[in-house]
Amino acid sequence: MIKKPKPIIQESYQFSIAPMLDCTDRHFRVLMRQISLKALLYTEMIVAKALEHKNREKLLEFDEIEHPIALQVGGDNPKLLSEAAKLAENWGYDEINLNIGCPSQRVQSGNFGACLMANPNQVAKCIEAMKQGSNLPVTIKHRIGIDNLDSKEHLLSFVDKIASAGADRFSIHARKAILTGLNPKQNRSIPPLEYEKVAHIKKCRPELTIELNGGLKNQKECINALKIFDGVMVGRAVYANPLLWNQIDEIFFGEKAKIISASQVIKGLIPYAEKHLNRNGRLWDICKHTLHLVQGVKGARKWRNELTQKAQTPKADLDVLEKAARQLEDAGL
Ligand SMILES: Cc1cc2nc3c(=O)[nH]c(=O)nc-3n(C[C@H](O)[C@H](O)[C@H](O)COP(=O)(O)O)c2cc1C
Repeated sequence: MIKKPKPIIQESYQFSIAPMLDCTDRHFRVLMRQISLKALLYTEMIVAKALEHKNREKLLEFDEIEHPIALQVGGDNPKLLSEAAKLAENWGYDEINLNIGCPSQRVQSGNFGACLMANPNQVAKCIEAMKQGSNLPVTIKHRIGIDNLDSKEHLLSFVDKIASAGADRFSIHARKAILTGLNPKQNRSIPPLEYEKVAHIKKCRPELTIELNGGLKNQKECINALKIFDGVMVGRAVYANPLLWNQIDEIFFGEKAKIISASQVIKGLIPYAEKHLNRNGRLWDICKHTLHLVQGVKGARKWRNELTQKAQTPKADLDVLEKAARQLEDAGL
């Protein structure tokens, strides 16, 4: 079933939560919506070709509460990517994003992801096709370079090419990717962060919307980054400690402060969990993302262990979540 298009949100996003495979699934996104109503959320990367198949519904579905939400796709085929953009619009996504940052062997063997930084012309064709395929903002997420193609000049000429194809925002992971010898995890820590290369792009092309990604650990670092960049994108530090980010809406979007506790997050998830269980989903799909809500306080490990044990049983129901919320509330969390 195709969802009705919804009006496109033309807002500038100063803060986004990075796409992360196996982390930013719809359940984690709904969890983050208990903490921030404003941050731009991304799906995990979906290979454009997979959207040709029948199970596209499962890949594209999201909950209304997840807006604003961007669909991230991977691919190198302009026609498929144009169709993906059209689908994203029809499904009500707010943005479509092309992944030019993933260095995995599997992605390289499909000739997409970070390896395409060596082929700006092809990336430009993809962006143009996505723009033609939909009215959504078309954005790109990429590295500062790959292997020996890591000069400031190469990065600037890559960005220029993609800008002239019509990209609406550049989310730049401030590390190069090393395509042989490092796995994706190592490629997120071993190549050094080089914020100055992203800053150079913003300085040379102030008219472009440039979002900084990579290594940002807390709200203060993000505020500092916003003195230079138009937006910040944070991945691991959000997943590792979601409540550390409970002032996003106030700090980055000027909304009234709404400090939320761990028990409130769990309680907020209950109606969503009920829908998920009614569709034969498992409670653990949701609960696995809640474990990092409580940490560094007495009893945290016990709470996590108990929730893990109970929520993993195949018949785990809402009582498990309700009890977990009560325990936190009793502990003042
Ligand atoms: C587990 C995991 C999965 C990731 N999956 C994706 C992905 O699907 N698409 C993508 O563009 N980047 C992916 N990334 C990279 C992040 O989006 C981000 O660029 C990177 O983690 C650096 O940001 P950070 O230091 O704030 O985490 C992934 C990162 C992690 C840790």
